[in-house]
Amino acid sequence: MTRTEAPSQRGLLLSEYLTSLTRADAPIPGAPLPEIALVGRSNVGKSSLLNLLVGRRSLARASRTPGKTRALNVFGWGGRCYLVDVPGYGWAKVGQAERTAWRRLIERYLAERPSLAAVIWLLDIRRDPSPDDRDLRARLVARAVPTLVVLTKADQVGRAKRAGRATEIGAAIGMDGKDFLLTSARTREGAEELREAVLAFLG
Ligand code: GTP
Ligand code: MG
Repeated sequence: MTRTEAPSQRGLLLSEYLTSLTRADAPIPGAPLPEIALVGRSNVGKSSLLNLLVGRRSLARASRTPGKTRALNVFGWGGRCYLVDVPGYGWAKVGQAERTAWRRLIERYLAERPSLAAVIWLLDIRRDPSPDDRDLRARLVARAVPTLVVLTKADQVGRAKRAGRATEIGAAIGMDGKDFLLTSARTREGAEELREAVLAFLG
């Protein structure tokens, strides 16, 4: 156990960084296991959510500089699955060529990866879904991959407003906001439900 693990996670499921893939068809060295991808726009809180899920503060690097995650960063979780931290989309301040390369990587990974078992799709509870978000929704529907929608940064919205935000965001992407999981990497709200949902994906 490392000092960064939350006490409730002691001895539960060990997590470790394994590798970074720059091609959507690159193999992960080791046992073939289902992959669960974390996807969402840049800065939505993917790396923070991955840390929340596994109960470690800084396994996946959470950065104040958006767009830092440039490859598919792969983590092992208790020998059960691979968690894949996918580069964020929609970050405007990088060059067009780089954006196109990321976009292709994300699209190909979601469309073609045989071992993709489920997607955790993150949306910021404060923001209305973007055209990129709606585009992603269409890709998830096309792939028919089991998807958990997580609204991040719930600590930034008062409790009385949260259900309303979930309804609005759901309406914007053609989903039922009641199915969304609200989380906060800051207060650890939703961590247990998140873990249960991910384990349920694995059957
Ligand atoms: P990229 O890898 O650049 O696409 O970003 P990301 O989606 O991995 O986001 P990351 O986890 O790096 O978080 C982005 C910023 O949001 C950081 O400053 C985090 O501290 C902050 N953040 C993440 N989750 C939460 C949350 O639940 N609440 C609050 N208040 N801030 C959060
Ligand atoms: Mg990240």
